[in-house]
Amino acid sequence: MAQPVQIPLSGTGELSSAEAFWRHDPPYHLFILSSLAFAVVVGFTLAILAPLSIVLEWGWGRHFLPLTQAHGQAQTLGFVGLFIIGMVYRLMPRFSGRPLSLPALAWASWPMLSMAVVLRLIAQPAGEGLWQRTLLVSSGCLGMLAASAFALVVMGTLLHRNSRAGATGYFFVLAAVFFVLQAGINLALVVLTAQRGDDVIRPIEAAGLLHVQLYGFIAMFIFGVASRAIPTISGLPRPEIQAKAMALVLAAAVLTFAIAALWIGSGTRSEALLRIEATAFAALGPIFLAGVWVVGIFRPAANRLARTSQHHIWLIRSAFAWLLVAGGLSAYYGVRASAGGEFIPAYAVDAVRHTVGIGVASTMIVGMAMLILPEFAIRRTRYPTERWPTLTILALLSAAAALRVGAAVATPQWLSTDRYWPMAIGGMLAEGALLLFAALFVISLLQKNATVASISLRAARAQGPRRA
Ligand code: HEM
Repeated sequence: MAQPVQIPLSGTGELSSAEAFWRHDPPYHLFILSSLAFAVVVGFTLAILAPLSIVLEWGWGRHFLPLTQAHGQAQTLGFVGLFIIGMVYRLMPRFSGRPLSLPALAWASWPMLSMAVVLRLIAQPAGEGLWQRTLLVSSGCLGMLAASAFALVVMGTLLHRNSRAGATGYFFVLAAVFFVLQAGINLALVVLTAQRGDDVIRPIEAAGLLHVQLYGFIAMFIFGVASRAIPTISGLPRPEIQAKAMALVLAAAVLTFAIAALWIGSGTRSEALLRIEATAFAALGPIFLAGVWVVGIFRPAANRLARTSQHHIWLIRSAFAWLLVAGGLSAYYGVRASAGGEFIPAYAVDAVRHTVGIGVASTMIVGMAMLILPEFAIRRTRYPTERWPTLTILALLSAAAALRVGAAVATPQWLSTDRYWPMAIGGMLAEGALLLFAALFVISLLQKNATVASISLRAARAQGPRRA
């Protein structure tokens, strides 16, 4: 009989203490803790306040756009970005069979990316002026340095001839390339914004940037992890060739959209360009559908999860169900805009963005963390029958995604500002889910540290008399 999947609790092999400091379990805690801080303190808080400011008429006026742009970057780079990078550092040695390359750069990328997001969050609502411009450009430069450091670590580890990363390596390397690309586009856009003396990046110019962040980096990484972990859990053969092809097709679709969007953003308006942009947007539909098939989440051949982990799989199933919704929406809106040679409407882009941001990325982050992080593995041994936190988070995130995406989809029929109510309520539900998850992670981390300390103490006591 197949054994249940065992989640490894420690890093790769035995290392000397100096090596251990740099290589053994790279600083994923720092990344995850700061990711959750960005989500809870800034990203989801602004997700509640921004819609409330409209329905309750707080008169934010021209501050609304800078604050929602700050929300977008806090979520994509601060929350999801830091989480993904921390997980990439932790997972790469395990599936490539190679130690992390340039581990000092992995450490350095954490303060650089965190500071880049913090500076952006200070600069964006600060209005116009020399300080704001300096902060904005410094944030862009730090973001570029952080992305370069991350990409060097990923490529150094995975492009080595001894790497056994396979298709997952394709996804991760491409995600790292797109992470550098988004940092480059962002830097160019913040410099342009500072030169103009504006306090926001013009939305038409930001379209390409956000597309690269959400689909080139975030979705690419999610497929990379899922195409490795889910077949193992579901007793399916690993889909190497299909997954590699999918990574390349997704990369081509994202790149096409980004080039067309940046071209349109530079002021060129042509029907052909709008059609190319809309077709690349529509292409996400079949790609997401193929991705769901390739990872095999809805066609398991076996159930290899330990009994105590069974319920976490519902978070992963839910994330992939939302991916199907995202695929359906992007195909529908993209084909419609392409047929008319028109812009994809803002509400449509917003709907797909939030289906992926809340339904797919946030749910997947929580689900995967609960399945593979040692903190939660230790928690399962302490509380083997505990189900309520996972099911509560699942219910909160699903309702949040439905409310947020529903409000965007209903925009053409629901023009009154009342449609911001479901968005605000969705924000509150998602904030609740992330607070609960963050509390569980911190408690489990403290418990794990206490367990490790007491094991080390017992080992030291046992060795002491023998040495003497
Ligand atoms: C329930 C939770 C959320 C709510 C209520 C919410 C709300 C909003 C609102 C009101 C806007 C402005 C839309 C407009 O211009 O009319 C926005 C923009 C945006 N949101 Fe969210 N959001 C949520 C979660 C997320 C998540 C989890 C992500 C990404 C992981 C995300 C990424 C973005 C992005 C990228 C933008 C565009 C910002 C820009 O224009 O530069 N949001 N969100």
